[in-house]
Amino acid sequence: MKIGVLGTGNMADALATHWVRAGHELLVGGRDARKARRLATRIGGGARHGNLREAAGFGEVVLAALPYGAGQEVAEEVGTALVGKVLLDCSNPVGPGFRLLTHDGGSAAQRLAAAAPGTRVVKAFNLCHEDVWRMTPPAFDGRPLAVPVCGDDETALALVRRLVRDVGCEPVAGGGLERAGLLEATAALFIGLWVGEGADAQAIAPPLAYATGPGGDS
Ligand SMILES: NC(=O)c1ccc[n+]([C@@H]2O[C@H](COP(=O)([O-])OP(=O)(O)OC[C@H]3O[C@@H](n4cnc5c(N)ncnc54)[C@H](OP(=O)(O)O)[C@@H]3O)[C@@H](O)[C@H]2O)c1
Repeated sequence: MKIGVLGTGNMADALATHWVRAGHELLVGGRDARKARRLATRIGGGARHGNLREAAGFGEVVLAALPYGAGQEVAEEVGTALVGKVLLDCSNPVGPGFRLLTHDGGSAAQRLAAAAPGTRVVKAFNLCHEDVWRMTPPAFDGRPLAVPVCGDDETALALVRRLVRDVGCEPVAGGGLERAGLLEATAALFIGLWVGEGADAQAIAPPLAYATGPGGDS
């Protein structure tokens, strides 16, 4: 698969490294040409580099590894280069005090979709720290990390599920893009628990067998 990467930071590095190892063709695009070249060299596997428009034009799937807000700016800037693409959004609109920055409207993923007409936006990879995505594979107690994926287009979702597996994780159906805000809110909750409280966010949910109560039939 041809994958364009918008951004040359931590998430770009972590995810693109897995995808190159899985045999995909990568083009890393950044607003800073030196950073794009450095990251492409670091990733290896024949990864190319270029500007943001070139990355948008290259990928069948385009990862927006950009801060919340910058994704919309870049989508508007590269314009038609993104049309027809699967645009993968991993952003977390989380501000000071672990506050969700999207309280006054749609989710970050929906805003990205509005800024990039003609794309199929899929939300994934926002719930864990970059160092988790760098693990080979991200697995805990022998169990692969489950990655919720939200989107409206089945073909786009199938491509992203493949990319989730290529990272070494298991995709989980998170519903349509209208549910992406729930993933973003979950990230705000988790980050607040982990960083703010030092609490084990994984411990807040019971095992599946108890999801409807201890009897499992309520
Ligand atoms: N890091 C994590 O653990 C983590 C985990 C889950 C989700 N996320 C989400 O993933 C996204 C990327 O995070 P990250 O940690 O990879 O960030 P990062 O390391 O700071 O990298 C951000 C990238 O975006 C570029 N950028 C920033 N503003 C831009 C603009 N206006 N126009 C063009 N490019 C711009 C930066 O370019 P310059 O280098 O030129 O500034 C850099 O290449 C964020 O939305 C974050 O919430 C992060």
